[in-house]
Amino acid sequence: MATAADASFAPDHVPAELVWDDSLSRFNSELDDPFIAASRLIDGPPLFYARDGAQGRPGWVIARHALLAEAFMDWEHFSSEGGMDLTQMLGVDWNLNPVNIDPPMHTNYRKLLLPMFTPKSVNHMEDGVRETCDELLAKFEDKDGCDFVKDFAVPFPSGIFLRLMGMPQDMLQQFFTWEQDLLRGTSIEGRVKTGRDILDYLIYHLEQQKKQPATPLMESIMNARIEDDRPLTDGEILGMFYTFYVGGLDTVYATISWSMRYIATRPQFQQFLRDNPDKLNKAVDELLRLFSVVSSQRRITKDFTWHGVEMKENDLVIMPIFIACRDPEAYPDPHEVDMKRKTQMLAFATGPHLCLGMHLARREIRIALETFLDRFDNIHIPEGSEYEFHAGPTFNVDSLPLAWTRKA
Ligand code: HEM
Repeated sequence: MATAADASFAPDHVPAELVWDDSLSRFNSELDDPFIAASRLIDGPPLFYARDGAQGRPGWVIARHALLAEAFMDWEHFSSEGGMDLTQMLGVDWNLNPVNIDPPMHTNYRKLLLPMFTPKSVNHMEDGVRETCDELLAKFEDKDGCDFVKDFAVPFPSGIFLRLMGMPQDMLQQFFTWEQDLLRGTSIEGRVKTGRDILDYLIYHLEQQKKQPATPLMESIMNARIEDDRPLTDGEILGMFYTFYVGGLDTVYATISWSMRYIATRPQFQQFLRDNPDKLNKAVDELLRLFSVVSSQRRITKDFTWHGVEMKENDLVIMPIFIACRDPEAYPDPHEVDMKRKTQMLAFATGPHLCLGMHLARREIRIALETFLDRFDNIHIPEGSEYEFHAGPTFNVDSLPLAWTRKA
């Protein structure tokens, strides 16, 4: 661990030996694989204080699986509320819902949404997921390759999001552009403007749904009653819409892209999956573990000592799941798929905020991989082609050139 020459970014209660004068995303971009780059931090202390933990802000970084799982469960010390980036940027008075709301209120929203995201409900969405997948493939399946990210991985979850929300499919291109601008835009002003444009569209959509809900999810949200039998406020609903948007697009696109890169560079594993379709669900879970793309954040609610380290109210805590999921204490031989692994998979977090969309996400990823393996043989990255990635709050692939042999 590099200790700070100038640790002015660290508050007084942080011991000098836990100060890390570096930026997490810069460090993670050092090698050609951000997961391997980030996992080097497991050689250091389990908990340390980084100069730039998230978008330039200093904070505690949790660098072990066991500690991260514990913090996810302990919402009384590790709060999801307040100080989170997006709603501050939008300047609204509501929170992302339910992801940035603590129990007990969180439990009300969660109860309301849970029935819409069970495996059984996802079964009803499966046809839509397959149709979206087939529509996208139809554009390039008579060719010998594609840019997997641009041609498939980005539009795929967006198409499913539109179906879930009852939004017209011709919004796909607009959503694609918004997503690129919001997540990859270089200027703050540009990202704020995009964030507001998305919000304006969500407000418009909300007004439409009040008149005539277009999907079962919209219907249950419009008719919901919470607390003393009151309907949800517009802010509560917009917080949900925005959470589905930010939670369900980038994550799925990133996981599919990293997984496809892994499969495209391991011909034997690829053929194993083709020959054993019944093993795909297990493979998807291992790929989700291997490519756990999310880094969450929490705020400390009150001064306390955690694993011998003094933490103060309002300290920011960065929770990089991508480090925890490569922790050899939890996962021996952490950088490879192991189809026999049993350890709890943390890609969807744990505790009260366990990903609500996890069954849908698993289904999307399985259907995407299954369809590619079924239609094409020998999927690979063409010689001389480079893949590109970035390592911000979510690790993501920007470009993944693929080639294949078309099946007769
Ligand atoms: C590979 C894909 C996905 C990954 C890795 C993922 C990961 C996560 C993680 C780590 C959290 C917890 C965040 C925290 O506690 O700070 C979360 C929460 C959430 N996710 Fe996902 N997610 C994925 C896909 C989806 C999809 C497709 C949806 C569908 C809309 C979705 C909806 C949500 C919601 C609503 C929450 C908030 C749950 C709560 O606060 O109770 N996610 N997700």
